[in-house]
Amino acid sequence: MKNPLYLLLLVFNGGVLGAQEITYNKDISPIVQTKCAPCHHPGGGAPFSLLTYNDLTKRASFIKEVVQSRYMPPWRADNNYAHFANDRSLLQKEINQIVQWIDNKTPEGKKVKQVNPTPEFISATRYGRKPDMVLKMADSFLVKGDNTERFAIFKLPFELKDPENIEAVEFYSNNKKLIHHANYGVHAVEDASIDIYKTDAMVDLSESDRSKVDQYKPYKKTITYYGGWIPGTTYEYYPKEFGWVMPKRGVILLTIHFGPTAVNEESISGINLFFKNIPVTRPVKVISFGSGGIGENQISPIFFIKGNEKKTFTLDVTNPAADLSIMYVWPHMHYIGKEFKAFIITPAGDTTRLVHIPEWDFRWQEIYRFPRLVKVPKGSVMHIEGTYDNTAENPANPNNPPRTIFSAGTMRSTDEMMTLLMIYLPYQEGDERISIE
Ligand code: HEC
Repeated sequence: MKNPLYLLLLVFNGGVLGAQEITYNKDISPIVQTKCAPCHHPGGGAPFSLLTYNDLTKRASFIKEVVQSRYMPPWRADNNYAHFANDRSLLQKEINQIVQWIDNKTPEGKKVKQVNPTPEFISATRYGRKPDMVLKMADSFLVKGDNTERFAIFKLPFELKDPENIEAVEFYSNNKKLIHHANYGVHAVEDASIDIYKTDAMVDLSESDRSKVDQYKPYKKTITYYGGWIPGTTYEYYPKEFGWVMPKRGVILLTIHFGPTAVNEESISGINLFFKNIPVTRPVKVISFGSGGIGENQISPIFFIKGNEKKTFTLDVTNPAADLSIMYVWPHMHYIGKEFKAFIITPAGDTTRLVHIPEWDFRWQEIYRFPRLVKVPKGSVMHIEGTYDNTAENPANPNNPPRTIFSAGTMRSTDEMMTLLMIYLPYQEGDERISIE
């Protein structure tokens, strides 16, 4: 420190020294805009905005805590196991900068010209632009506060001038905390003699006669796409020539599973669709393994967990058909899930890691996109492994005292699941070299 040369540098390089101070405008704002604001904006799903200097400084100590513990941004995948293109976690360097900035009493600094101007955050979406089409329930649905689970199917009819190439799709709800999961089928109804409007707008499976669902049967002949949402998930995005094509006419049948609630609440949900001009020549599909999917009865041992027990289950499924390319993996368990892992072993004996969630958290599930398509050669074995903690020490255990938990196929939130969904497509030569960042 006493080195005169250093002092000289200090005098001459005042500007450089100034540049070393971490300021909001120069360093922190760019991080927060990309890693926090996509959720922390009005209508983005987080409880408050983080768009301005004041938004941050008001909560400085709280923010320091959640970034240090990596509670925020929510990202539960083990990045040392597999890397994903939609990784939204903070780099260690970014955490250090935020912490140091808060410790230095949050200097605002001079306004700087932004290299990447702040994106505009559109209410009710996390995708970076306005949806090209929003299909949502015309009337809000009353979720009764009677502490029971509820399932309902909502019909969302649509008519377009032309079929559209889908770039991204996002489940929307004004009250996501009510929802345990949602699934939707996009059904093409080209036959104009089939009326897509006059049937009921929804069927409440918990209250009405289940045969009422039959009125939707004529719509179900052609399914174009099947997607879903689980708590924490953002959106599905398909780069380049990948995606699916929205038919000109049809209905979306959106099934929502509402968790129990103690007070009456209103819910309006729907689907945000984003179109692109690039023709979709490589359509994607969804497939599910484990509970509710392929190999459900081969989960080993038999799927139930006694009260006060910790247990690990595995499932091995062979890809019997043709070579596949995977774009996304989507692990799913319920509340007492602890750890999830999946990998494939190729016929040549190589292991390809898919995903590892070391500390499962029901509230933060995500659909993980690979940076490059992952090839699953014909004859590969896919291995799925799930560990569950049904003890009273697990704060997420819905039962107190713990009771035996099954996977009854009803998909009730108090049952368990071990499921891996994948978005995939038939393999083409060179797929593993295609970047889908
Ligand atoms: C994927 C969406 C998402 C992203 C990205 C995100 N948050 Fe959050 N954040 C939420 C939601 C939803 C909640 C409320 C639920 C909760 O607290 O668990 C929340 C809660 C918080 C809380 C309150 C925590 C508490 O215990 O009440 C803080 C502080 C916070 N976020 C800061 C941040 C910061 C800082 C970033 C970026 C570095 C960030 N968040 C990124 C969605 C997000």
